Amino acid sequence: MKVSMIGTGYVGLVTGLCFCELGHEVVCIDIIDDKVDMVNAGVPPIFEIGLEELLRKHLAEGHFHASAEYDEVLQTDVTFICVGTPSYEDGSLDLRYVKDAADDLGTLLRRKRTRHTVVLKSTVPPTTTEQFVAPILQKRSGKKIGKTIGLAMNPEFLREGSAIKDFLHPDRIIIGASDPRSMQVVRGLYGSFHCPILEVTPTTAEMIKVANNAALATRISMINEIGNVCKALGIDAREVAKGIGMDARIGPAFLKAGAGFGGSCFPKDVKGFIAQAKHLGLEPRIMQSVIDVNEAQPLHLIALLEKHMKLRGKTIAMLGLAFKPETDDVRESRSFPVIELLLRKGAGVKVHDPKAMANFKQFLPDIHYSESAKACVKGADAVLIMTEWPEYSNSKLYGDKLVIDGRGAVKTKNYEGICW
Ligand code: UGA
Repeated sequence: MKVSMIGTGYVGLVTGLCFCELGHEVVCIDIIDDKVDMVNAGVPPIFEIGLEELLRKHLAEGHFHASAEYDEVLQTDVTFICVGTPSYEDGSLDLRYVKDAADDLGTLLRRKRTRHTVVLKSTVPPTTTEQFVAPILQKRSGKKIGKTIGLAMNPEFLREGSAIKDFLHPDRIIIGASDPRSMQVVRGLYGSFHCPILEVTPTTAEMIKVANNAALATRISMINEIGNVCKALGIDAREVAKGIGMDARIGPAFLKAGAGFGGSCFPKDVKGFIAQAKHLGLEPRIMQSVIDVNEAQPLHLIALLEKHMKLRGKTIAMLGLAFKPETDDVRESRSFPVIELLLRKGAGVKVHDPKAMANFKQFLPDIHYSESAKACVKGADAVLIMTEWPEYSNSKLYGDKLVIDGRGAVKTKNYEGICW
């Protein structure tokens, strides 16, 4: 099939290139010319394992290109909307880019003679596809949804750092479509997969995505809360996680206690769920607690540090700025609140990250960035580990310095783990 992606960000680019792997022809549309040029030159604008190789392969084979020309949509059969949905102050999601995409697509589709299917991929509050996107598309195109324009919602479950693998080996695919033909078109795109495909309505598909992230975030806050009690009792929360994970009803994944969850998805999507529930007159208590636990969690590291030393005038080395390993993404990284509190308490901070320093610097330019983990640790009074990059697991790095480990990255002589 010929596929266009609106948005050449993380989801648009990974999904587009993976569709090429499945044998489709893809154009990624973006309004930022520099990004389009970079992508067409084989340089991905984000760091993701395997992405550059995939990009170069499909550019060379001629199955893929990026473009700033919206009109190219007209030469394709299906368009995926993969734009960002940032948060407002109250946690609700800002749908302005979804609106822009729907406006532009609708206007273009007025000129198209054959049927076209529009698929929303962005994470959105349930009801967005049917109650927000559909009316815009209909109004702009002058066509009827379900007749000459197909509409579907197909959420993504890609993790940064393993996004290509997650796409190519999914547990399941969720397709929400309001008419059978759109369902067939989206199913056709995934024709070669053997995993279960769940067919639902667009609104159910949207809720499955939000609930999926809410469930995973809840597990993390739950194990962190258990972990804090374990720490107080001298129990290793990792052994407890292993023990409960052996119960088939619970399972072992996403039970890693630590400094809490960051990233562009869990905090935003849980807050979006809370905002929508409140808008409906409901009081989402569990999800609010998931956020509360997550906000308090990284600060436990400072409390542990203070058991050993007064912070005023000390130099603390922080290892890890990315919200998790194998990415340069620092959005909602738990390192931010920890640095903020260290500075407020009068400590000096040196930081290191193998991939994320440039991104972090855009938010906090005035702290000391070290060129290596070794240089960061040198001369520091204590070390905090915030991201479990493999290179931080070398215990020789630390000598007999105090290490407070928020991720279970290492075991050294002078050591405190956050939940063990
Ligand atoms: C998450 C979901 O896992 C994906 O399925 C989803 O598609 C994506 O959000 C999204 O909505 O786009 P991602 O944010 O890339 O993916 O990363 P995760 O691997 O889920 O990790 C999120 C955070 O949770 C990280 O800060 C990580 O350190 C933390 N985490 C994860 C824990 O603290 N403990 C765990 O056991 C697992």
